[in-house]
Amino acid sequence: MDDLRSKYIDLIAQAADEAALEDLRVQAVGKKGEISLAMRELGRMTPEERQEAGPRLNALKSEITSALAAKKQALTDAALDDRLKAEWLDVTLPARPSNHGTIHPVSQVTEEVSAIFADMGFSVAEGPQIESDWYNFDALNIPGHHPARAEMDTFYMQRKQGDNRPPHVLRTHTSPVQIRSMMDHGAPLRVICPGRVYRADYDQTHTPMFHQVEGLAIDTDISMANLKWCLEEFCRAFFEVDGVELRFRASHFPFTEPSAEVDIRCSWAGGTLKIGEGDDWLEILGSGMVHPKVLEAGGIDPSQWQGFAFGMGIDRIAMLKYGIPDLRAFFDSDLRWLRHYGFGALDRPDLVGGLSR
Ligand code: DAH
Repeated sequence: MDDLRSKYIDLIAQAADEAALEDLRVQAVGKKGEISLAMRELGRMTPEERQEAGPRLNALKSEITSALAAKKQALTDAALDDRLKAEWLDVTLPARPSNHGTIHPVSQVTEEVSAIFADMGFSVAEGPQIESDWYNFDALNIPGHHPARAEMDTFYMQRKQGDNRPPHVLRTHTSPVQIRSMMDHGAPLRVICPGRVYRADYDQTHTPMFHQVEGLAIDTDISMANLKWCLEEFCRAFFEVDGVELRFRASHFPFTEPSAEVDIRCSWAGGTLKIGEGDDWLEILGSGMVHPKVLEAGGIDPSQWQGFAFGMGIDRIAMLKYGIPDLRAFFDSDLRWLRHYGFGALDRPDLVGGLSR
C-alpha cells in the first residue's frame, strides 16, 4: 500500500496537463484502477485482515482523490496565470491619432442633464449596479408579491448553494439611489442619480443595459407645482427649443403618490422627429410625490418632510434630442457610428457656453 501511495503521489505531482491527470485517475481509482482492484481483494481476506486493510485502503483512496483534485486546481490556476501574462496590455499608452474616438451621446447627455440640474441646486449621486432586493424593491414600496417586480424583467444574481437569502439583482432602475441618498444625507435634499440599469428586454428601443437619471427633492413645503416647474425648466433647457410643451398624465408607481407620467409635444411630419410642435406626444419620464413609506425607508420623517421624485431614460432623451433611431447601435462600439453621433472631447456642455455645440 505504501508503494502504491508513493507511486501515485509522485505521478500526480509530475502530471503535465489535465489529460495526463485523467489517465492517472483511471489508473488509480477508476473502476479497474489499481486501488479499486486492491479493494476488491478485501472480500478474500480473513475478518481480522480486513479490519486492518479496509480503513487503510479507504484512506489511501481518499488521499489520492484529493491529490488529483488539488493538482487539477493548480493546473487551472497556472493556465490562468499564463493567460493573464500573455494578454497583458498597457492602457497608459497614448491613443493613435488615426483611431481617436469621441464622447458617446450617453456621456454627453448625462453631462447636459447634470449641468442643468446643478444650476437648480441638485448634486449628483451614484449607487451600485448590483443591488440588494431591499433597496431595489422593498424600500421603494414594492413588496415581494407586487406585479411591478415581474414587469421589470429583473436579472437576478446567484447565491451560493444553501444560502436562502433573497438574491441580489442588477438594479432595474436608478430609484434605489433615492433611498441611499436619503440615508446618507437626510433632509432637506436635492439630488440627481444617473447611471446604468438592467432589464431583460431587447428590440429597437430596448437594450438589456440602459441608462436612467433619477431626481429627488425633499423639503418642508414641496408640491406637485414645484415638480412641474422643475421638469418644464429642464426640458426647455435640454431640448434647446423655446416652445416645449409638456403633458402630465395621471399614472401609478408604488413609490409615489400621486404619480404622473410626462409626455412631450412633438411631430413626426416627413418622418423626422421635431420636439415642441405637432400633434403627437412622446412619453419621457415618470414622476410624483414621494410615498410616505419610501421616506420612512430612507430614514426621513414623513410628517415633517415631503418631496418629489422622477425617473427619466437618458438614452431615450438622447435619441429624441439628437435624432438617433436605434437604441441598440448605442452599445455596438462601432467607431463609424461614434464619429457620426459622438461629441468633441473638449466641448464640455454647460449652460453658459451652450449645451450641445
Ligand atoms: N423607477 C421608474 C422606472 O424605472 C421611473 C420612475 C417613476 C422614477 C416615477 C421615479 C418616479 O422616481 O417618481 O420605471
